[in-house]
This record gives sequence, structure tokens and C-alpha cells, in this order.
Amino acid sequence: MTVTRRTFLMQLAATSGYTAAAAAMTTLGLGAPTIASASGQTPLLQLAPGSGKGTKVLVLGAGIAGLVSAYELRKAGYQVQLVEARDRVGGRNWTIRNGTRIELNDGTTQVADFEPGHYFNAGPARLPSHHQTILGYCRELGVELEAEVNSSRSAYFLPDAAKGGQPIQLRRAINDARGHVSELLAKATSKGALDQELSVDDRAKLVEFLKVYGDLTPQAEFKGSERSGYKVYPGTAENVGERNEPLPLEALLDPDLWLALVFDELLIFQPTMLQPVGGMDRIPYAFFQRLKDVARLNTEVKSITNKDKGVDVVVRDRASGKLQTLSADYAVVTFPLPVLAQVETNFSPEVKQAISNVHYDTASKIAWQSRRFWETESQIYGGISVVKHETSLIWYPSGGFHKKTGVLVGCYNIGQGARDFTAQPLSAQFASSRGVIDRVHPGRGADLKNPVSVAWHKVPYSLGSWVHWATPAEKEYVRLNQPEGRVHFAGEYLSQIGAWQEGAALSAHHAVAAIARRITT
Ligand code: ALA
Repeated sequence: MTVTRRTFLMQLAATSGYTAAAAAMTTLGLGAPTIASASGQTPLLQLAPGSGKGTKVLVLGAGIAGLVSAYELRKAGYQVQLVEARDRVGGRNWTIRNGTRIELNDGTTQVADFEPGHYFNAGPARLPSHHQTILGYCRELGVELEAEVNSSRSAYFLPDAAKGGQPIQLRRAINDARGHVSELLAKATSKGALDQELSVDDRAKLVEFLKVYGDLTPQAEFKGSERSGYKVYPGTAENVGERNEPLPLEALLDPDLWLALVFDELLIFQPTMLQPVGGMDRIPYAFFQRLKDVARLNTEVKSITNKDKGVDVVVRDRASGKLQTLSADYAVVTFPLPVLAQVETNFSPEVKQAISNVHYDTASKIAWQSRRFWETESQIYGGISVVKHETSLIWYPSGGFHKKTGVLVGCYNIGQGARDFTAQPLSAQFASSRGVIDRVHPGRGADLKNPVSVAWHKVPYSLGSWVHWATPAEKEYVRLNQPEGRVHFAGEYLSQIGAWQEGAALSAHHAVAAIARRITT
């Protein structure tokens, strides 16, 4: 079977919380002419200042796509109103802190009980360094960034309980796998298996390369590597340390392990990754600071009606229940599709079908407050342990090193696995997460306190996480990237960087640039 890059990513998405299968696929070339390519310098969208004067735009939804749309439109002089149903901005960019209420549509309510300063990014939690649109906004809006430690060689892979289930340190798995494979390739090369493919010179060079690559002996054998760490680290005087024995190749031929071996080679997960200091929601709040006077929170959209020369939107104030009709020349609708499907519209049957046809994925995360045993006992400073278990991973905090406590993410699963997992009572979800953390860190399950769970298909006004498009030619994708009358759609789901804030920001640029073209032609 040929594993294309795409199927590889889909498998990745299917088997772990690493998700973002759609994220790393090639771009479609959707960029409007006014959008500069990501150069690392903002602004990426160049709307002429004042060009929007006299044009009214309603931006529906204050997630990243809505915030970027409203911000850019305003910069260009448009008259903007930003409407948001929740009492906060950010959408799926949601940072949970002490006191945050998590009201899910299954009737459960949780209130986070974390120490001051702790936070949990229930939605996006990392920014790849090549996502220069969203990073560009961080630069422009003064959002302070720090490294997000997305991988650690000290973290673990936990095999399926049925396969023995003993945690393997990633440092050993990665380097021993490389060593064994290098030895085998060196042997095959020396025995003439590649004589057809390589010249005599290149065969010799390849073996020399493999010695470096796999840390082989001068005889091109793998006898273990310092790269795989020590049982006893070297110390003073005669203490030379005691290296870890190499893991047998058979232990590494477990398909559940392989993606963890290359995880931080995937472009979207390559170091250095970044995060805002203090929580991902520093990004939406930085936008909000500039948009406060045009934003209406706690305001639900009930209907959207295209008219000949404008659009009417009926909104409901959630506090008073009062309905009001807002009118504008254009609207940018940034709701996730399951939310938009519940809004009354006069869209064409084709667009209505596109909205209701698309399957939205889900994701769920659990966070615990805990003593930082992963640092004191396992030398883990950030990064992820991969667990072959319904909770998928353990994600260690990237900051607050050596503080007494921290917030540990003890589950990040997606798709049907997440739906099944979160169909269980919260107590069962927490017990499962605690149990698997205890297998990776024996005895430490007892340190975990005050868990909270967020299941995105149950979060009102989100109702899901993202879309996995099979191809950019899918008719719903193509259709919704076009306006419907005076209504333009935006959201990460309409980009080739789905499941990432970068996609949301670029999609906002796409919609805003399309409106700009309409008013100038
Ligand atoms: N962008 C999401 C993540 O980082 C999918 O996990």
C-alpha cells in the first residue's frame, strides 16, 4: 500500500490527538489578489485605508475568523458590527482558568478550580512557527509569545495494555529505532542488496552516513547509543554512568509507536512552536481591545436574510430575550457549520445543503491540576507522552517549570473515539485519564486533582471542532468559499489549514478581500 502524505496524516488524525490531518495539506491558492503571501511581516492583507468608508458589514461570530474580519474591515474604514452569542470572544480559542464555567449541552456544568496563574487551553494550544498570519497578528497586537514545548525526548510512549503496556521513553524508542534500521540498511548495502541502485562509491558513503545517522560502531553495528540515555547518568570521578540497553527491534515494530517516532518532523509540529504567555485567549482579547466599541456579546443570531442590496440579520439579546433586526450591506458569517445550520436563512437550497451536509469532527480534552511529578521524577519539561488508550496522550505544561503545581492535559482525543469517550459520565472519563496517567507515571494518578473536561461537539455555539475535507474539490468546500448573495463565509474550515487559527485568519482575509473587490468594481 502506498502511504501518501494525505493518508499518513489521516491515519495520524485517526489514531491520536495529534489531529490536524487537513492542516498540513497543500494550499489551494485561494488567496485573493490583495492578500500578500506569508512573508513573516504583517499586514498580510492590504486593504486601502478608507476604502470601506460608507459600507456597512455585519461580522457574525467573534472567533478568530470574525475578529480578524472585523479588525481588517475597520482598519479600511468599513462600518462594522461584530455579533457574538457567548459572553466572551475567541470561539474555540478558549482558555479556562480558575472559576471558568464549562456548561455543556448534555446538561453538565463544571467550574474550573485551579490555582491562580494556571490555565488550560481547551481549544488551540500551539502555534507553528510558519503560521505567520496569526503570528503576525500577535506581533501587530503586542501579544507576548513564548516557546510551546510540543515534544520531549523524556516523555513516553505507552503501548496497548494487551501488548505488555510498559512505557517506553521516546528518547530510547526514537534513537534505538534509528540505530536498528541504520544497521540493517548498512548490512543490506554491504551484502550487495543495493548494487543496482548505488555506485560503489555511494555504497561506501551510505554506510558511513548510516554510522553517523544511527550511531553505529565502526563495524556498522548498532550496539546502543548514548542518544538513548542512561539508567545512571555520568557523574564525578570514575562515575561514567550506565547506559540504557538498546530496545530490541521487535519492541519497536509496533505500528502504534511509529507516528510518535516522527511526530516532531511533521511540518505543523516542528520546533519551535509557540504560545501566548498566559493563555491562548490573549490573542482574541488583543483583538477585542480594538473592537470593543463595535462588538455585541451575548447576542444570538436567529436569522439571516439576503436582500437585493443588503442583508438583514435578526439577533436576540440573551439577557433580555429582545429581538432586533440589524441591516448592513454585507455580512461575514463565521459560525461553525453545525451552528449555522440552526440559523434560519433564505439561502439557496444548494447552500443550505452544503451547510447541513458537512460532517464536523469533534475533539475532547481533560485537564488536571497536579504536583509537577513529571519534572521532579521523570525530567519531563513540556512535550507529550503518547498513550495507546482512549485518552490518546498526556501533554505536559510548557511553562511554570519548577513551580509547585501545574496543569496537565490528560486527554486529547478526536473523532468517534472522542464521541464515545465523552458519552461516558464525567467521573468515568476522569477515572480513565487518571488510570492511564498512573500507568505511565506509576503512583502519580493520586496527585491529580480538580479535573475538567471539554467535549467540543457539546460546547454551545461551537458544536464541533473542525472539518476533514477529503479533497479541496469537495462541492461544499468550493461552494462555501463563494459568497451567497451579500453573505460571505469564513472560518478555518474554509481553508487548507483547517483546525488551525492560521486557517481562520486566512479565511477571514479571503472573505474580506472578496467584499473589498465587490465595492470597488
Ligand atoms: N491544531 C490542532 C492541534 O494542534 C488540531 O492539535
